[in-house]
Amino acid sequence: MEQKELILVMDFGGQYNQLIARRVRDQHVYAEVIPSTTPLQSVLARHPKGIIFTGGPNSVYKEDSLTYDPAILSAGIPILGICYGSQLMAHLLGGRVATAPVSEYGHTELKLSEAAASSKLFRDVAGVSTVWMSHTDRIESVPEGFAVTASTDNCPIAAFESEERKLYAVQFHPEVMHTVEGPKIFHNFLFDICGCAGDWRMDTFVEDTVKAIREKVGSGRALCALSGGVDSSVAAVLMSKAIGKQLTCVFVDHGLLRKDEGDEVAAVFGPDGPYDLNFVRVNAADLFYSKLAGVTEPEKKRKIIGEEFIRVFEQEAKKIGAVDYLVQGTIYPDVIESGLGKSATIKSHHNVGGLPDYVDFKEIIEPLRMLFKDEVRQVGRELGIPEKFVMRQPFPGPGLGIRIIGEVTPEKVKIVQEADAIYREELEAAGIQRSANLGQYFAALTNMRSVGVMGDFRTYDYAVVLRAVCTADFMTADCAQIPWDVLTKIANRIVNEVHGVNRVLYDCTSKPPATIELE
Ligand code: XMP
Repeated sequence: MEQKELILVMDFGGQYNQLIARRVRDQHVYAEVIPSTTPLQSVLARHPKGIIFTGGPNSVYKEDSLTYDPAILSAGIPILGICYGSQLMAHLLGGRVATAPVSEYGHTELKLSEAAASSKLFRDVAGVSTVWMSHTDRIESVPEGFAVTASTDNCPIAAFESEERKLYAVQFHPEVMHTVEGPKIFHNFLFDICGCAGDWRMDTFVEDTVKAIREKVGSGRALCALSGGVDSSVAAVLMSKAIGKQLTCVFVDHGLLRKDEGDEVAAVFGPDGPYDLNFVRVNAADLFYSKLAGVTEPEKKRKIIGEEFIRVFEQEAKKIGAVDYLVQGTIYPDVIESGLGKSATIKSHHNVGGLPDYVDFKEIIEPLRMLFKDEVRQVGRELGIPEKFVMRQPFPGPGLGIRIIGEVTPEKVKIVQEADAIYREELEAAGIQRSANLGQYFAALTNMRSVGVMGDFRTYDYAVVLRAVCTADFMTADCAQIPWDVLTKIANRIVNEVHGVNRVLYDCTSKPPATIELE
Protein backbone atom coordinates (compact mmCIF):
# COMPACT_ATOMS: atom_id res chain seq x y z
CA MET A 1 0.00 0.00 0.00
CA GLU A 2 1.30 3.40 -0.94
CA GLN A 3 1.96 5.54 2.15
CA LYS A 4 1.38 9.23 1.79
CA GLU A 5 2.86 10.24 5.12
CA LEU A 6 5.50 8.36 7.03
CA ILE A 7 7.33 8.83 10.30
CA LEU A 8 10.35 6.59 10.80
CA VAL A 9 11.21 5.56 14.34
CA MET A 10 14.91 4.72 14.54
CA ASP A 11 15.33 1.94 17.03
CA PHE A 12 18.28 2.30 19.39
CA GLY A 13 17.13 -0.57 21.56
CA GLY A 14 14.86 1.17 24.07
CA GLN A 15 12.01 -0.72 25.67
CA TYR A 16 9.26 1.66 24.51
CA ASN A 17 10.04 1.74 20.79
CA GLN A 18 6.87 0.02 19.65
CA LEU A 19 4.93 2.35 21.88
CA ILE A 20 6.38 5.37 20.07
CA ALA A 21 5.08 4.04 16.75
CA ARG A 22 1.70 3.43 18.40
CA ARG A 23 1.50 6.96 19.76
CA VAL A 24 2.22 8.38 16.32
CA ARG A 25 -0.41 6.16 14.73
CA ASP A 26 -2.86 7.25 17.41
CA GLN A 27 -2.56 10.67 15.80
CA HIS A 28 -3.45 9.18 12.40
CA VAL A 29 0.07 9.31 11.02
CA TYR A 30 1.67 6.06 9.87
CA ALA A 31 4.88 5.19 11.72
CA GLU A 32 7.31 2.37 11.27
CA VAL A 33 10.13 1.22 13.53
CA ILE A 34 13.40 0.67 11.66
CA PRO A 35 16.75 -0.55 12.98
CA SER A 36 19.24 2.21 13.75
CA THR A 37 21.59 0.45 11.32
CA THR A 38 19.37 1.28 8.33
CA PRO A 39 21.58 3.07 5.78
CA LEU A 40 20.90 6.76 5.40
CA GLN A 41 20.09 6.35 1.70
CA SER A 42 17.35 3.83 2.53
CA VAL A 43 15.93 6.19 5.12
CA LEU A 44 15.88 9.09 2.67
CA ALA A 45 14.41 6.91 -0.08
CA ARG A 46 11.30 6.45 2.07
CA HIS A 47 10.73 10.23 2.15
CA PRO A 48 9.76 10.39 5.82
CA LYS A 49 8.01 13.51 7.03
CA GLY A 50 9.90 13.14 10.29
CA ILE A 51 12.21 10.84 12.22
CA ILE A 52 12.17 9.87 15.88
CA PHE A 53 15.28 8.59 17.66
CA THR A 54 14.25 6.21 20.42
CA GLY A 55 15.69 5.61 23.84
CA GLY A 56 18.27 2.90 24.35
CA PRO A 57 20.43 1.23 26.98
CA ASN A 58 23.83 2.57 25.83
CA SER A 59 25.89 5.58 26.83
CA VAL A 60 26.62 7.82 23.85
CA TYR A 61 30.13 8.67 25.08
CA LYS A 62 31.10 5.00 25.41
CA GLU A 63 30.32 3.99 21.86
CA ASP A 64 33.35 3.11 19.75
CA SER A 65 31.66 2.87 16.40
CA LEU A 66 28.50 4.41 15.07
CA THR A 67 25.87 2.10 13.62
CA TYR A 68 24.23 4.93 11.67
CA ASP A 69 25.24 7.89 9.56
CA PRO A 70 25.32 11.12 11.62
CA ALA A 71 24.62 13.01 8.38
CA ILE A 72 20.99 12.18 9.11
CA LEU A 73 21.01 15.18 11.46
CA SER A 74 21.64 17.58 8.61
CA ALA A 75 19.32 15.99 6.05
CA GLY A 76 16.71 18.69 6.68
CA ILE A 77 14.13 16.20 8.01
CA PRO A 78 12.60 17.11 11.38
CA ILE A 79 13.94 14.83 14.11
CA LEU A 80 12.69 14.24 17.63
CA GLY A 81 15.23 12.60 19.92
CA ILE A 82 13.83 10.81 22.96
CA CYS A 83 15.95 9.91 26.04
CA TYR A 84 19.05 8.19 24.58
CA GLY A 85 18.02 9.75 21.25
CA SER A 86 18.21 13.22 22.80
CA GLN A 87 21.64 12.50 24.28
CA LEU A 88 22.81 11.22 20.92
CA MET A 89 21.70 14.40 19.24
CA ALA A 90 23.54 16.51 21.84
CA HIS A 91 26.69 14.37 21.65
CA LEU A 92 26.93 14.27 17.86
CA LEU A 93 26.47 18.00 17.50
CA GLY A 94 29.06 19.05 20.05
CA GLY A 95 27.11 19.09 23.32
CA ARG A 96 28.22 17.19 26.41
CA VAL A 97 26.67 14.07 27.92
CA ALA A 98 27.80 12.54 31.22
CA THR A 99 26.60 10.25 33.99
CA ALA A 100 23.98 12.09 36.03
CA PRO A 101 24.78 12.56 39.74
CA VAL A 102 21.26 11.30 40.45
CA SER A 103 19.47 8.87 38.12
CA GLU A 104 15.89 9.79 37.47
CA TYR A 105 13.30 7.07 37.22
CA GLY A 106 9.53 7.40 37.20
CA HIS A 107 7.21 10.37 37.61
CA THR A 108 9.07 13.67 37.53
CA GLU A 109 7.98 17.27 37.42
CA LEU A 110 8.99 19.06 34.22
CA LYS A 111 9.26 22.85 34.05
CA LEU A 112 9.32 24.64 30.74
CA SER A 113 11.90 27.42 30.32
CA GLU A 114 11.30 30.90 28.95
CA ALA A 115 12.65 29.73 25.61
CA ALA A 116 9.81 27.21 25.43
CA ALA A 117 7.34 30.05 24.96
CA SER A 118 8.25 30.20 21.28
CA SER A 119 8.81 26.42 20.90
CA LYS A 120 6.60 24.67 18.38
CA LEU A 121 7.12 21.40 20.24
CA PHE A 122 5.73 22.79 23.48
CA ARG A 123 2.91 24.88 22.02
CA ASP A 124 -0.06 24.76 24.44
CA VAL A 125 1.85 22.47 26.81
CA ALA A 126 1.48 23.33 30.52
CA GLY A 127 4.42 25.20 32.07
CA VAL A 128 4.69 22.51 34.75
CA SER A 129 3.62 18.95 34.10
CA THR A 130 4.40 15.36 35.07
CA VAL A 131 6.66 13.36 32.77
CA TRP A 132 8.12 9.86 32.85
CA MET A 133 11.89 9.73 33.21
CA SER A 134 14.20 6.76 32.98
CA HIS A 135 17.88 7.67 32.62
CA THR A 136 21.30 7.48 34.24
CA ASP A 137 23.12 9.80 31.80
CA ARG A 138 22.15 13.39 31.26
CA ILE A 139 22.96 16.26 28.95
CA GLU A 140 25.38 18.70 30.56
CA SER A 141 25.57 21.21 27.74
CA VAL A 142 23.69 21.66 24.49
CA PRO A 143 25.28 22.13 21.06
CA GLU A 144 25.85 25.65 19.87
CA GLY A 145 22.75 27.40 18.56
CA PHE A 146 20.37 25.16 20.54
CA ALA A 147 17.96 26.46 23.18
CA VAL A 148 17.13 24.67 26.43
CA THR A 149 13.36 24.40 26.63
CA ALA A 150 12.72 22.40 29.82
CA SER A 151 14.30 21.13 33.03
CA THR A 152 13.59 19.01 36.08
CA ASP A 153 15.13 19.25 39.56
CA ASN A 154 17.83 16.71 38.74
CA CYS A 155 18.09 17.36 35.04
CA PRO A 156 18.79 20.96 34.05
CA ILE A 157 18.53 20.10 30.36
CA ALA A 158 15.39 17.98 30.00
CA ALA A 159 14.58 19.34 26.53
CA PHE A 160 16.41 21.38 23.90
CA GLU A 161 15.92 22.32 20.28
CA SER A 162 16.91 24.26 17.22
CA GLU A 163 13.91 25.33 15.23
CA GLU A 164 16.15 26.40 12.39
CA ARG A 165 17.68 22.93 12.10
CA LYS A 166 14.34 21.22 12.84
CA LEU A 167 15.98 19.20 15.62
CA TYR A 168 14.11 18.60 18.88
CA ALA A 169 15.11 16.58 21.90
CA VAL A 170 13.46 15.48 25.12
CA GLN A 171 15.11 13.55 27.93
CA PHE A 172 11.75 12.25 29.18
CA HIS A 173 9.46 9.72 27.50
CA PRO A 174 6.46 11.40 25.85
CA GLU A 175 5.26 7.99 24.60
CA VAL A 176 4.61 6.66 28.10
CA MET A 177 1.12 7.20 29.43
CA HIS A 178 2.42 8.84 32.62
CA THR A 179 3.74 11.79 30.62
CA VAL A 180 0.58 13.82 30.83
CA GLU A 181 1.36 16.15 27.94
CA GLY A 182 2.82 13.36 25.76
CA PRO A 183 -0.02 13.28 23.20
CA LYS A 184 0.15 17.06 22.76
CA ILE A 185 3.92 16.94 22.28
CA PHE A 186 3.56 14.25 19.60
CA HIS A 187 0.76 16.21 18.01
CA ASN A 188 2.91 19.32 17.85
CA PHE A 189 5.85 17.42 16.42
CA LEU A 190 3.77 15.66 13.78
CA PHE A 191 1.51 18.46 12.66
CA ASP A 192 3.32 21.75 13.41
CA ILE A 193 6.89 20.62 12.88
CA CYS A 194 6.69 17.77 10.34
CA GLY A 195 3.68 19.23 8.56
CA CYS A 196 1.69 15.99 8.58
CA ALA A 197 -2.00 16.05 7.69
CA GLY A 198 -2.93 12.75 9.40
CA ASP A 199 -3.90 10.40 6.57
CA TRP A 200 -3.61 7.07 8.42
CA ARG A 201 -7.14 5.81 8.96
CA MET A 202 -8.60 2.34 9.09
CA ASP A 203 -11.34 2.97 6.55
CA THR A 204 -8.82 4.28 4.04
CA PHE A 205 -6.56 1.39 4.97
CA VAL A 206 -9.22 -1.10 3.90
CA GLU A 207 -9.96 0.82 0.71
CA ASP A 208 -6.31 1.31 -0.26
CA THR A 209 -5.33 -2.25 0.58
CA VAL A 210 -8.19 -3.74 -1.42
CA LYS A 211 -7.12 -1.64 -4.39
CA ALA A 212 -3.45 -2.62 -4.03
CA ILE A 213 -4.31 -6.34 -3.74
CA ARG A 214 -6.48 -6.18 -6.87
CA GLU A 215 -3.67 -4.59 -8.82
CA LYS A 216 -1.13 -7.11 -7.61
CA VAL A 217 -3.17 -10.30 -8.03
CA GLY A 218 -4.90 -9.36 -11.28
CA SER A 219 -6.64 -12.50 -12.50
CA GLY A 220 -4.37 -14.80 -10.44
CA ARG A 221 -5.42 -17.10 -7.63
CA ALA A 222 -4.59 -16.96 -3.94
CA LEU A 223 -4.70 -19.44 -1.09
CA CYS A 224 -5.19 -18.57 2.56
CA ALA A 225 -4.69 -20.82 5.59
CA LEU A 226 -7.61 -19.84 7.79
CA SER A 227 -7.43 -20.82 11.45
CA GLY A 228 -10.36 -18.80 12.74
CA GLY A 229 -7.94 -16.65 14.76
CA VAL A 230 -8.20 -12.87 14.49
CA ASP A 231 -5.31 -12.30 12.09
CA SER A 232 -6.06 -14.99 9.53
CA SER A 233 -9.81 -14.22 9.64
CA VAL A 234 -9.24 -10.53 8.94
CA ALA A 235 -6.66 -11.30 6.22
CA ALA A 236 -9.08 -13.72 4.56
CA VAL A 237 -12.03 -11.33 4.54
CA LEU A 238 -9.88 -8.45 3.31
CA MET A 239 -8.51 -10.61 0.50
CA SER A 240 -11.95 -11.85 -0.43
CA LYS A 241 -13.22 -8.28 -0.59
CA ALA A 242 -10.41 -7.60 -3.06
CA ILE A 243 -10.42 -10.71 -5.26
CA GLY A 244 -13.62 -12.60 -4.42
CA LYS A 245 -13.64 -16.16 -5.64
CA GLN A 246 -10.07 -16.03 -6.85
CA LEU A 247 -9.29 -16.71 -3.19
CA THR A 248 -9.61 -20.11 -1.53
CA CYS A 249 -9.48 -20.41 2.25
CA VAL A 250 -8.38 -23.71 3.70
CA PHE A 251 -9.40 -24.44 7.27
CA VAL A 252 -7.72 -27.51 8.72
CA ASP A 253 -9.66 -28.89 11.67
CA HIS A 254 -7.02 -30.94 13.45
CA GLY A 255 -9.38 -32.13 16.16
CA LEU A 256 -7.51 -30.05 18.73
CA LEU A 257 -9.76 -27.02 18.63
CA ARG A 258 -11.94 -25.72 21.43
CA LYS A 259 -15.48 -27.08 21.79
CA ASP A 260 -17.59 -26.36 18.69
CA GLU A 261 -14.86 -24.12 17.27
CA GLY A 262 -14.66 -25.92 13.92
CA ASP A 263 -18.39 -25.46 13.39
CA GLU A 264 -18.22 -21.82 14.50
CA VAL A 265 -15.49 -21.05 11.99
CA ALA A 266 -17.40 -22.88 9.27
CA ALA A 267 -20.61 -21.03 10.15
CA VAL A 268 -18.94 -17.65 9.61
CA PHE A 269 -16.68 -18.41 6.68
CA GLY A 270 -18.45 -21.36 5.06
CA PRO A 271 -21.21 -21.32 2.42
CA ASP A 272 -23.93 -20.39 4.94
CA GLY A 273 -21.98 -17.43 6.33
CA PRO A 274 -22.09 -13.81 5.25
CA TYR A 275 -19.00 -14.03 3.06
CA ASP A 276 -18.92 -15.38 -0.45
CA LEU A 277 -15.71 -17.34 0.04
CA ASN A 278 -14.30 -20.48 -1.46
CA PHE A 279 -14.05 -22.22 1.89
CA VAL A 280 -12.55 -25.66 2.29
CA ARG A 281 -12.85 -27.38 5.65
CA VAL A 282 -10.65 -30.40 6.10
CA ASN A 283 -11.68 -32.64 8.96
CA ALA A 284 -8.42 -34.29 9.83
CA ALA A 285 -8.92 -35.15 13.51
CA ASP A 286 -8.42 -38.89 13.06
CA LEU A 287 -5.21 -38.35 11.17
CA PHE A 288 -3.81 -36.08 13.89
CA TYR A 289 -4.91 -38.38 16.72
CA SER A 290 -3.26 -41.35 15.06
CA LYS A 291 -0.01 -39.46 14.56
CA LEU A 292 -0.06 -38.30 18.18
CA ALA A 293 -0.78 -41.72 19.67
CA GLY A 294 1.82 -42.63 22.29
CA VAL A 295 3.65 -39.29 22.05
CA THR A 296 4.13 -37.49 25.37
CA GLU A 297 6.95 -35.00 24.85
CA PRO A 298 5.61 -31.44 24.25
CA GLU A 299 8.06 -30.36 21.57
CA LYS A 300 7.56 -33.63 19.70
CA LYS A 301 3.81 -33.10 19.80
CA ARG A 302 4.26 -29.57 18.45
CA LYS A 303 6.43 -30.85 15.64
CA ILE A 304 4.01 -33.60 14.65
CA ILE A 305 1.03 -31.24 14.65
CA GLY A 306 2.94 -28.62 12.64
CA GLU A 307 4.16 -31.13 10.13
CA GLU A 308 0.81 -32.83 9.62
CA PHE A 309 -0.81 -29.46 9.18
CA ILE A 310 1.61 -28.70 6.39
CA ARG A 311 0.93 -32.04 4.70
CA VAL A 312 -2.82 -31.51 4.78
CA PHE A 313 -2.52 -27.94 3.59
CA GLU A 314 -0.20 -28.98 0.79
CA GLN A 315 -2.62 -31.66 -0.39
CA GLU A 316 -5.42 -29.11 -0.54
CA ALA A 317 -3.22 -26.61 -2.38
CA LYS A 318 -2.44 -29.27 -4.97
CA LYS A 319 -6.14 -30.06 -5.42
CA ILE A 320 -6.87 -26.42 -6.13
CA GLY A 321 -3.86 -26.12 -8.42
CA ALA A 322 -2.19 -23.19 -10.16
CA VAL A 323 -2.24 -20.93 -7.11
CA ASP A 324 0.06 -17.94 -7.47
CA TYR A 325 -0.19 -16.32 -4.06
CA LEU A 326 -0.11 -17.53 -0.49
CA VAL A 327 -1.88 -15.24 1.97
CA GLN A 328 -0.56 -14.95 5.52
CA GLY A 329 -2.02 -13.07 8.46
CA THR A 330 1.39 -11.77 9.58
CA ILE A 331 1.02 -8.62 11.68
CA TYR A 332 3.49 -5.89 12.51
CA PRO A 333 4.97 -7.31 15.73
CA ASP A 334 5.71 -10.55 13.82
CA VAL A 335 7.49 -8.52 11.14
CA ILE A 336 9.66 -6.91 13.80
CA GLU A 337 10.42 -10.26 15.41
CA SER A 338 11.47 -11.92 12.20
CA GLY A 339 13.67 -9.00 11.14
CA LEU A 340 12.63 -6.09 8.98
CA GLY A 341 13.07 -6.25 5.26
CA LYS A 342 12.50 -9.97 5.18
CA SER A 343 8.89 -9.80 4.17
CA ALA A 344 9.00 -12.80 1.87
CA THR A 345 10.46 -15.18 4.43
CA ILE A 346 7.98 -17.58 5.93
CA LYS A 347 8.52 -17.43 9.65
CA SER A 348 9.74 -20.56 11.30
CA HIS A 349 7.76 -19.70 14.42
CA HIS A 350 4.48 -19.50 12.55
CA ASN A 351 1.44 -20.71 14.45
CA VAL A 352 1.58 -24.22 13.21
CA GLY A 353 5.28 -24.66 12.69
CA GLY A 354 5.77 -23.07 9.29
CA LEU A 355 3.65 -23.07 6.21
CA PRO A 356 4.83 -24.98 3.17
CA ASP A 357 7.47 -22.99 1.37
CA TYR A 358 7.91 -25.82 -1.10
CA VAL A 359 4.44 -25.37 -2.54
CA ASP A 360 5.08 -23.40 -5.64
CA PHE A 361 3.83 -19.90 -4.88
CA LYS A 362 4.86 -16.91 -6.89
CA GLU A 363 4.60 -14.62 -3.91
CA ILE A 364 3.38 -14.25 -0.35
CA ILE A 365 0.82 -11.60 0.42
CA GLU A 366 0.67 -10.25 3.96
CA PRO A 367 -2.04 -7.60 3.90
CA LEU A 368 -1.84 -6.89 7.64
CA ARG A 369 1.90 -6.63 8.00
CA MET A 370 1.75 -2.94 8.84
CA LEU A 371 -0.80 -3.26 11.64
CA PHE A 372 -0.69 -3.78 15.37
CA LYS A 373 -3.11 -6.27 16.90
CA ASP A 374 -5.68 -3.70 17.98
CA GLU A 375 -5.54 -2.13 14.53
CA VAL A 376 -6.19 -5.57 13.02
CA ARG A 377 -9.23 -5.86 15.26
CA GLN A 378 -10.40 -2.46 14.08
CA VAL A 379 -10.04 -3.52 10.44
CA GLY A 380 -12.01 -6.65 11.32
CA ARG A 381 -14.84 -4.47 12.59
CA GLU A 382 -14.68 -2.30 9.46
CA LEU A 383 -15.10 -5.49 7.46
CA GLY A 384 -18.12 -6.54 9.52
CA ILE A 385 -16.51 -9.60 11.12
CA PRO A 386 -18.51 -10.61 14.21
CA GLU A 387 -17.24 -9.14 17.48
CA LYS A 388 -16.82 -12.63 18.89
CA PHE A 389 -14.15 -13.32 16.27
CA VAL A 390 -12.63 -9.87 16.36
CA MET A 391 -12.04 -10.02 20.12
CA ARG A 392 -10.78 -13.59 20.26
CA GLN A 393 -8.03 -14.43 22.70
CA PRO A 394 -4.93 -16.01 21.17
CA PHE A 395 -5.11 -19.75 20.66
CA PRO A 396 -1.90 -21.69 19.96
CA GLY A 397 -1.54 -23.39 16.59
CA PRO A 398 -1.02 -26.84 18.18
CA GLY A 399 -4.28 -26.18 20.04
CA LEU A 400 -5.38 -28.52 22.80
CA GLY A 401 -2.45 -30.75 21.87
CA ILE A 402 -0.32 -28.64 24.22
CA ARG A 403 -3.10 -28.24 26.80
CA ILE A 404 -3.20 -31.95 27.46
CA ILE A 405 -0.18 -33.00 29.43
CA GLY A 406 1.22 -36.27 28.18
CA GLU A 407 -0.39 -38.38 25.47
CA VAL A 408 -3.24 -36.87 23.48
CA THR A 409 -6.27 -39.12 23.04
CA PRO A 410 -9.76 -38.34 21.67
CA GLU A 411 -11.16 -38.96 25.19
CA LYS A 412 -8.80 -36.44 26.77
CA VAL A 413 -9.58 -33.91 24.04
CA LYS A 414 -13.27 -34.30 24.82
CA ILE A 415 -12.64 -33.75 28.56
CA VAL A 416 -10.59 -30.61 28.08
CA GLN A 417 -13.04 -29.24 25.49
CA GLU A 418 -15.98 -29.65 27.86
CA ALA A 419 -14.17 -28.26 30.90
CA ASP A 420 -12.83 -25.33 28.92
CA ALA A 421 -16.27 -24.51 27.52
CA ILE A 422 -17.72 -24.36 31.05
CA TYR A 423 -14.82 -22.24 32.30
CA ARG A 424 -15.14 -19.73 29.46
CA GLU A 425 -18.91 -19.64 29.69
CA GLU A 426 -18.83 -18.83 33.42
CA LEU A 427 -16.05 -16.24 33.18
CA GLU A 428 -17.83 -14.54 30.32
CA ALA A 429 -21.17 -14.68 32.15
CA ALA A 430 -19.54 -13.00 35.15
CA GLY A 431 -18.05 -10.36 32.81
CA ILE A 432 -14.60 -11.16 34.17
CA GLN A 433 -12.85 -11.34 30.81
CA ARG A 434 -13.55 -7.63 30.44
CA SER A 435 -13.20 -6.39 34.01
CA ALA A 436 -10.00 -8.26 34.82
CA ASN A 437 -8.39 -7.44 31.49
CA LEU A 438 -7.54 -11.07 30.85
CA GLY A 439 -5.08 -11.85 28.10
CA GLN A 440 -5.78 -15.56 27.97
CA TYR A 441 -7.87 -18.02 29.96
CA PHE A 442 -8.39 -21.70 29.40
CA ALA A 443 -8.68 -25.12 30.96
CA ALA A 444 -5.99 -27.74 30.52
CA LEU A 445 -5.83 -31.38 31.42
CA THR A 446 -3.13 -32.54 33.81
CA ASN A 447 -1.93 -36.07 33.36
CA MET A 448 -2.66 -36.64 37.02
CA ARG A 449 -5.38 -38.93 38.24
CA SER A 450 -6.43 -38.94 41.85
CA VAL A 451 -8.94 -40.49 44.16
CA GLY A 452 -12.30 -38.93 44.78
CA VAL A 453 -15.74 -39.90 45.93
CA MET A 454 -18.95 -39.36 44.04
CA GLY A 455 -22.17 -40.55 45.62
CA ASP A 456 -21.17 -43.81 47.27
CA PHE A 457 -18.47 -44.61 44.80
CA ARG A 458 -14.75 -44.20 44.77
CA THR A 459 -13.48 -42.45 41.64
CA TYR A 460 -10.01 -42.35 40.14
CA ASP A 461 -10.16 -39.59 37.59
CA TYR A 462 -8.30 -36.72 36.00
CA ALA A 463 -7.58 -33.28 37.46
CA VAL A 464 -8.38 -30.28 35.29
CA VAL A 465 -6.30 -27.15 35.76
CA LEU A 466 -7.70 -23.69 35.14
CA ARG A 467 -5.43 -20.88 34.00
CA ALA A 468 -6.12 -17.18 33.57
CA VAL A 469 -3.48 -14.55 33.00
CA CYS A 470 -3.32 -10.79 32.63
CA THR A 471 -0.82 -9.80 30.01
CA ALA A 472 -0.37 -7.30 27.24
CA ASP A 473 2.63 -8.75 25.42
CA PHE A 474 2.43 -12.46 26.34
CA MET A 475 6.14 -12.34 27.20
CA THR A 476 5.37 -11.84 30.88
CA ALA A 477 2.06 -12.49 32.58
CA ASP A 478 0.44 -12.19 35.97
CA CYS A 479 -1.92 -14.77 37.29
CA ALA A 480 -5.44 -13.32 37.30
CA GLN A 481 -7.28 -13.16 40.59
CA ILE A 482 -10.59 -14.77 39.75
CA PRO A 483 -13.20 -14.26 42.50
CA TRP A 484 -13.45 -17.33 44.69
CA ASP A 485 -17.20 -17.77 44.27
CA VAL A 486 -16.81 -17.82 40.49
CA LEU A 487 -13.99 -20.37 40.70
CA THR A 488 -15.88 -22.69 43.01
CA LYS A 489 -18.97 -22.51 40.82
CA ILE A 490 -16.85 -23.47 37.81
CA ALA A 491 -15.15 -26.29 39.72
CA ASN A 492 -18.53 -27.69 40.76
CA ARG A 493 -19.89 -27.55 37.27
CA ILE A 494 -16.83 -29.22 35.79
CA VAL A 495 -16.78 -32.18 38.19
CA ASN A 496 -20.54 -32.59 37.86
CA GLU A 497 -20.82 -32.20 34.12
CA VAL A 498 -17.56 -33.50 32.66
CA HIS A 499 -17.20 -37.23 32.75
CA GLY A 500 -13.74 -38.37 33.84
CA VAL A 501 -12.86 -35.37 36.05
CA ASN A 502 -13.00 -35.41 39.84
CA ARG A 503 -10.71 -32.52 40.76
CA VAL A 504 -10.18 -28.94 39.59
CA LEU A 505 -7.03 -26.93 40.32
CA TYR A 506 -6.27 -23.25 39.74
CA ASP A 507 -2.82 -22.33 38.47
CA CYS A 508 -1.62 -19.27 40.37
CA THR A 509 1.88 -18.94 38.94
CA SER A 510 3.00 -15.97 36.92
CA LYS A 511 5.24 -15.99 33.83
CA PRO A 512 8.13 -16.19 34.52
CA PRO A 513 8.80 -18.62 36.11
CA ALA A 514 5.91 -20.56 34.54
CA THR A 515 4.76 -20.12 30.94
CA ILE A 516 1.23 -19.30 29.87
CA GLU A 517 0.56 -22.68 28.28
CA LEU A 518 1.28 -25.74 30.40
CA GLU A 519 3.45 -27.35 27.75
P1 XMP B 1 3.89 -19.41 26.58
O1 XMP B 1 3.25 -20.71 26.94
O2 XMP B 1 5.19 -19.58 25.85
O3 XMP B 1 2.90 -18.71 25.53
O4 XMP B 1 4.01 -18.47 27.74
C1 XMP B 1 3.02 -17.40 25.06
C2 XMP B 1 1.97 -17.21 23.98
O5 XMP B 1 2.29 -18.04 22.86
C3 XMP B 1 1.26 -18.99 22.63
N1 XMP B 1 1.91 -20.25 22.28
C4 XMP B 1 1.92 -20.76 21.04
N2 XMP B 1 1.36 -20.30 19.91
N3 XMP B 1 2.22 -22.17 18.75
C5 XMP B 1 1.50 -21.03 18.78
O6 XMP B 1 0.95 -20.65 17.74
C6 XMP B 1 2.82 -22.69 19.84
O7 XMP B 1 3.45 -23.74 19.79
C7 XMP B 1 2.64 -21.93 21.05
N4 XMP B 1 3.08 -22.11 22.33
C8 XMP B 1 2.60 -21.07 23.06
C9 XMP B 1 0.47 -19.05 23.90
O8 XMP B 1 -0.88 -19.48 23.67
C10 XMP B 1 0.58 -17.63 24.41
O9 XMP B 1 -0.36 -16.79 23.77
